[in-house]
Amino acid sequence: MKNFGFDLPTEIEFGIGVYKDLPKELEDGKRVLIVSDPGLKKVGLLDKIKNVVIDNGYEVDVYTEITPNPDEKMVSDLTSYINENGSEQIVVLGGGSSIDAAKVASCMAVNDGSLEDYQWNNRSFENCSLPLFVFPTTAGTGSEVTGVAVITSRNTKKGVVDKYIFPDKAIVDPELMKSLPPYLTAITGMDALTHAIEAYLGLGANVFTDSLAERAIKLIADYLPRAYANGGDEEARYNMAVASTLAGIAMDQAGLGIVHSLASPVCANLHLSHGLANSFLLPYGMEFNIIARKAKMSNIAELMGVKVADLSKEETAYLAVRKVEELQRELELKDKIVEETNVKPDLDKYAENAANMFLINNNPRKASIDDCRNIFKNIFYSEK
Ligand SMILES: [Fe+2]
Repeated sequence: MKNFGFDLPTEIEFGIGVYKDLPKELEDGKRVLIVSDPGLKKVGLLDKIKNVVIDNGYEVDVYTEITPNPDEKMVSDLTSYINENGSEQIVVLGGGSSIDAAKVASCMAVNDGSLEDYQWNNRSFENCSLPLFVFPTTAGTGSEVTGVAVITSRNTKKGVVDKYIFPDKAIVDPELMKSLPPYLTAITGMDALTHAIEAYLGLGANVFTDSLAERAIKLIADYLPRAYANGGDEEARYNMAVASTLAGIAMDQAGLGIVHSLASPVCANLHLSHGLANSFLLPYGMEFNIIARKAKMSNIAELMGVKVADLSKEETAYLAVRKVEELQRELELKDKIVEETNVKPDLDKYAENAANMFLINNNPRKASIDDCRNIFKNIFYSEK
């Protein structure tokens, strides 16, 4: 019965083949910059988008220098490129890294000051970003529908949260996700699951975001294994694209929690992909939160297909955690996780970094530095 607002300025176009409608959205005659990464150039997706734009008479530049976990230098290079080439509207094709870098650069190109001024809400953009059209190529990030972009500065992931960070349009086309390899399908899908679960359990949750998160959790449990097993499974790709968009909206409106907070030092120090870090941290975060959200955790178990008849809420809450671990095994992420966590990090440093993330304030159970330290100890210093 709580009061809440819901603000989604990004328009969404969804469906198989909708990428071909891009020229209808572009602003007449304005020079286009397509931002992407080298991998998408290699598999031919970049040309698909580029040709649609060129065929409609636009002048097009292409920038493919984006790599995972974008940092301030990458954003600064992209901003300079935009200004030097006179780019007037930006098209992004890629996963969270390309989308986040382009979201920030398209604002920085028309605002003064340094990136640091805008990170963690120190300052708001005065001018609206360049027109920004986003084509996600993974069913994971949700960044195409959020007002936040995450950029690494000095080994810390820092968010830029601003009304002008929302893209103008999200064009979500499952056809663009078909070439995503199984491993990337798995870790990006687990990231989307983490968004849905953290939004659902967090303090910012409301009845609108719960509806989105619940549907996303169910779709991911049903379709992620299928998309992993066969990338060409159109129904699975379609439903994973629906799920990641729903989860993205839910997380933007309701916030995240301890899992993404713990992921920050892990990604920044181990140079690990965001999706893999969230994937292995999710069960730990869920278990930590059971005491604060037994009923919702029990719902998660049910949404993921656990038979809950005759069991208490507490028992089914724990089964939700086991179900996520089962999904990790099904997606063959377990060995990868053991391999990546076979390091002995500085627990104090990691714990302090995680506990200082603003996201952690939205976690349903208050999480101290000691709590974060204990979780990291459990992950990195226990027998595997
Ligand atoms: Fe995420």
